[in-house]
Amino acid sequence: MQRNRRTRRTESLLRLFTETDVPVRSLVPAYFVVEGSRVRRELPEGSGLWQLSIDELQEECKRARDGGAEAVMLFGVPDQKGIEHATRRDSLACNAVRALEGTGLVRMADVCLCSYTEDGHCGVWHDGHHGRPGSVDNDSSVALLAQVAAGLADAGAEIVCPSDMMDGRIAAIRAALDHEGLGDTLVMSYAAKMASAMYGPFRHAASSAPTHGDRRGYQMNPANGREAMRETATDIEEGADLIMVKPALTNLDLIAATRARWNVPIVAYQVSGEYAMIHEAARAGRIDRARAARETLVSIRRAGADLVVSYFAPEFWAGGPRAA
Ligand code: PBG
Ligand code: ZN
Repeated sequence: MQRNRRTRRTESLLRLFTETDVPVRSLVPAYFVVEGSRVRRELPEGSGLWQLSIDELQEECKRARDGGAEAVMLFGVPDQKGIEHATRRDSLACNAVRALEGTGLVRMADVCLCSYTEDGHCGVWHDGHHGRPGSVDNDSSVALLAQVAAGLADAGAEIVCPSDMMDGRIAAIRAALDHEGLGDTLVMSYAAKMASAMYGPFRHAASSAPTHGDRRGYQMNPANGREAMRETATDIEEGADLIMVKPALTNLDLIAATRARWNVPIVAYQVSGEYAMIHEAARAGRIDRARAARETLVSIRRAGADLVVSYFAPEFWAGGPRAA
């Protein structure tokens, strides 16, 4: 008889035969940069999402670095809406990137327009003509996104992370970076990004909820795995260095399929709603928060993710996931 339980007999054996780890260096915290100073607020409360002014961000990043973090993901959330603020070289996001120079952390900067547009869409909305429905205009949005990416890279971001899901943006961003002599900057493409129900808390923290319509005209249908492979193939051809899959837990199959087909580093995003499901279920006394956090993270790694953006990350430099 094959006795598979032999390796589970003692704590030491269990540890010895553990196949997958979640090293601190694989965890990437995400922060929402806001204007002002001494601003440090969790929004919504209990969401695990933190809005920080640049001074607080610097302190938070120092703690992260001391705790073993290697990278940080940054979202700019300016007070003032308006696309003209997105492309400015002294935008809040660019200033935050500059302020983290010399911290030793790799700066991953989000590239999108949804925190800047009046209507919260990830690109520029065009009303439909002749009774056709309106939509986000692809090519004018891509031109703006390429400018945003170049600005962030010029400010010092080692990795720019387009999360908008427009077509052709990776090629346009790559060209803009090369044009400015920023060819060393990595591009992390949100290639398989689903139009998910699990982005709710994020849209509060990033002030990016669409005021009309939804994102299904540009983000992917969660039903479509083959289409996700097509998106990924396109983005790799266009020059993406890293591929993002998002949300993580509902797309473990895509992480595994991407890992099997391509040799690019894979990043998974354990999104705000995934954090909320665990945190709130634990608060209701239904599950063990720390164990659920570890189990989901190790599963995402086991599926094939090299890095995981997670709101649990900061807890790992404070001794591991909290019980409550
Ligand atoms: C917007 C963006 C979203 C997230 C990352 N970038 C929200 C959305 O697409 O509506 C979600 C991340 C999270 O929920 O934690 N470009
Ligand atoms: Zn967006």
